[in-house]
Amino acid sequence: MHDVLRVTGGTPLNGEITVRGAKNFVSKAMVAALLGESSSVLRNVPLIRDVDVVADLLRLHGVGVEYDEEGGTLTFDTSNVDSAHVRDIDALAGSSRIPILFCGPLLHRLGEAFIPDLGGCHIGDRPIDFHLQILRDFGAVVDKTATGIHITAPRGLHGTKATLPYPSVGATEQTLLTAVRAEGVTELSNAATEPEILDLIAVLQKMGAIISVDTDRTIRVEGVDRLTGFEHTSLADRIEAASWASAALATGGDIFVRGAEQPSMMTFLNVYRKVGGEFDITDEGIRFYHPGNELRPIVLETDVHPGFMTDWQQPMVVALTQANGLSIIHETVYENRFGFTEALRRMGAQIQVHRECLGGLPCRFGQRNFYHSAVVSGPTPLNAADIVVPDLRGGFSHLIAALTAEGTSRVRGIALINRGYEHFMRKLGALGAQVELED
Ligand code: EPU
Repeated sequence: MHDVLRVTGGTPLNGEITVRGAKNFVSKAMVAALLGESSSVLRNVPLIRDVDVVADLLRLHGVGVEYDEEGGTLTFDTSNVDSAHVRDIDALAGSSRIPILFCGPLLHRLGEAFIPDLGGCHIGDRPIDFHLQILRDFGAVVDKTATGIHITAPRGLHGTKATLPYPSVGATEQTLLTAVRAEGVTELSNAATEPEILDLIAVLQKMGAIISVDTDRTIRVEGVDRLTGFEHTSLADRIEAASWASAALATGGDIFVRGAEQPSMMTFLNVYRKVGGEFDITDEGIRFYHPGNELRPIVLETDVHPGFMTDWQQPMVVALTQANGLSIIHETVYENRFGFTEALRRMGAQIQVHRECLGGLPCRFGQRNFYHSAVVSGPTPLNAADIVVPDLRGGFSHLIAALTAEGTSRVRGIALINRGYEHFMRKLGALGAQVELED
């Protein structure tokens, strides 16, 4: 694919687009399929690169994976699961963070796992210490090598009682995918309870697992001897839906997001309304639009569910450059998720980043040299610029900024956006965006 997009901004985005299943659920349900002793079917799967990477990794381990794009249906045949060659796995190093979640399923099915160096967005250190600790708690032996991690379980995997230092999405999924077939009971405190995790629990229950979730973030799993396959339809991608919603607000547009679901977006919808955006919720999706009035500034803090998602923050910041007054955003999930504001400043936005915890309760990044609070002063007209996509959500936010700005911007590195936004070029076209790939 060409990698530079010319974007001529200043025109509101108007029209309809469809969002399908959530990237951050689909990829995990694909790993869960590995645990099933019969075939599985996953529906509403978007055509994005993260899905390709996990499908390739499954195939390397002997899983038959077929994808029907039109219906968005993935089928998995797990009758021949086998160890993959380290060299083949290595070829996928650096392309995604999902491989770390293969540990539990591979240990259960094959007795060992090799996990290549991880990829994913550079929005903080993104360590995997919680993952490795929980695997050791289950009885796994973890051997770090120069190219990846080799994991074995010579005495089998046994249920454990653990508390996460922070409600990490990935470490909670790691625990679930390992505990379901570990011997005995596992209790995880301070677990993450994002809707994508609850959907993964629904999949595991269909497969035969016994899992309960308490209101105090405690998850209990009773290990079982075997799991079957599943049939499941993914929940919608609430990050993609919110990204288009923020694009409607920033450009003064009107976008019907077919497939968007209210229950998983309630916190976002509250903020959207407070800023002055409007929305109509129907059974088919949500219409997001700028009503033509002045937008209002807001004090916002990102948090784990049910808080305001960190992945909603970046596109919303672009919309806040058009609000009348000072907005304060405190990022408490990642220590380094304001790097993308540098390009916005070059485009004319007034955004300062600070080390202090502003506008909210002190978080674990306070007084530690992390620029994790931002003050946005608006409204400021944005000017066209040459921009390089820094990460998935930051990159989409740059696109929104370019669509808001007067003049023609060049956005370089747009292939990265395919990791999480299905057919985004086609969707931009459907919304009347003036975009053109550079030869
Ligand atoms: N953390 C640790 N140690 C660990 C694991 C996490 O310190 O072993 C820290 C992280 O550094 C971070 C915080 O805990 O500061 C939260 O990380 P979490 O584990 O919850 O994130 P993740 O599982 O790596 C998923 C999504 C992210 C999303 C976060 C938070 C996937 C593939 N990724 O990441 O999505 O931002 O949860 O909701 O599910 C994206 O889609 O663009 C994206 C980055």
